[in-house]
Amino acid sequence: MLAVEDLLRDNAFVNGHWVSADSGNRFEVTNPADGKTLTSVPDLGPDDAAQAVEAAREAFGGWKKQTAGHRAKMLNRWHDLILANEKDLALLMTLEQGKPIREARGEIRYAASFVRWFAEEARRAYGDVIPPHVADKRILALKQPVGVVAAITPWNFPAAMITRKVAPALAVGCTVVIKPSEWTPLTALALARLAEDAGFPSGVLNVVTTMDAAGVGTMLTSHPDVRKISFTGSTRVGKLVLAGAANTVKRVSLELGGNAPFIVFDDADLEAAVEGAVASKYRNAGQTCVCANRILVQEGIAEEFTVRLTAKTSRLTVGPGVDDSSQIGPLINESALEKVTRLISSAQEAGATIRTGGKVHELGGTFFEPSLVSGVTDEMDIFSEEIFGPVSAISTFKTEEEVIRRANDTPFGLAAYVFTRDYARAWRVPEALEYGMVGVNTGMISTPVAPFGGVKQSGMGREGSRYGMDEFLETKTVTIGGL
Ligand code: SIN
Repeated sequence: MLAVEDLLRDNAFVNGHWVSADSGNRFEVTNPADGKTLTSVPDLGPDDAAQAVEAAREAFGGWKKQTAGHRAKMLNRWHDLILANEKDLALLMTLEQGKPIREARGEIRYAASFVRWFAEEARRAYGDVIPPHVADKRILALKQPVGVVAAITPWNFPAAMITRKVAPALAVGCTVVIKPSEWTPLTALALARLAEDAGFPSGVLNVVTTMDAAGVGTMLTSHPDVRKISFTGSTRVGKLVLAGAANTVKRVSLELGGNAPFIVFDDADLEAAVEGAVASKYRNAGQTCVCANRILVQEGIAEEFTVRLTAKTSRLTVGPGVDDSSQIGPLINESALEKVTRLISSAQEAGATIRTGGKVHELGGTFFEPSLVSGVTDEMDIFSEEIFGPVSAISTFKTEEEVIRRANDTPFGLAAYVFTRDYARAWRVPEALEYGMVGVNTGMISTPVAPFGGVKQSGMGREGSRYGMDEFLETKTVTIGGL
């Protein structure tokens, strides 16, 4: 199946060893496209995972003392190995996660780009020399790694959400314990295998596989030796992580749920807006935190926009991710399917119109038809909840003031999108939107060079970009007196 069979790992990676759980327990990893078992991996308990924290703590002493140039060299080796194994990594990802193989290959390149970016940034973790307040003192602000980092990562981007956290952590001298989603541990283990080949010392990077997300999560958030938690996942779990980290006052970064408004003004380039909506909405079958969730279209162009987007939506090819022609793979699991089905049927009951799709695809399982629902109102669950499926929900608006108010009327604030050709509006509206990221005339905002993160209940902290490195650095003030 894989060109390099060795990338299919069936043990966890702790302190440079491939280990099983003390209990001997394992859990199965299945293919969401056909429900078949791919393999099984160890179901580590909190005590097993604590050994990974111990290994990371031990390794920290040596790793932080390496030069930035040395750490950059290791990261670059890892980067090159990831790209050299792009095909195998993408196949593993598609098999366990379901996304179309072309998207999986894109994600591997996206994942590698964070490693490259932070390998370069490693050399630029500058501190400051501060003009002193009295003549006989000198003041320095030193940048130092926070220590052991726990990276808790989701199933929707099994590679990129790991490298976006782990690469900056390693670059500045932290060591890491990765807890991947129980739905997608194989990509994480394959990345660890390549990190091993790249030559990272034992304990610097560890991967703990577990079904006991609550137990291991509680251990990680409360363990005194874990100094930083970086979590991507739901807002519900993010709040638990934040509360759990409070007792030992850890640094915390959270990348949580969203409810992205996608706003199309009547002065927009309509075709570009439709293309942008397809790109933002149907990526990963709608299972990204930054997917357009509420498509708000100004009244005068709403029908034309809806007709065009409906046509494109209905032409999307649904199928197993391994088929080259697939554009929409299966949803991750039954509960994702149930949520999408519930949101569509409750919207329909409340008066929305299904223009295309609207039900489980004829392939069965967790395949869902690419769908478009119009006539959506603010009271509907589909407007206020994160859909996380291939469903466009269209609502109309009259004025700029109204759409800004409605777009901001949510506890979430991750991504928003605005399509307009009015240059003043293109400044004004993004400034008024309470979101961490705003795309103007584009549906694609993700890149390692731009800060990624949300406001309000969508999270705290930023990933990627030069800001993403600060999350793993402490600032230490050194005041030298008696000069
Ligand atoms: C996410 O859905 O959490 C990440 C999406 C991205 O990086 O574009």
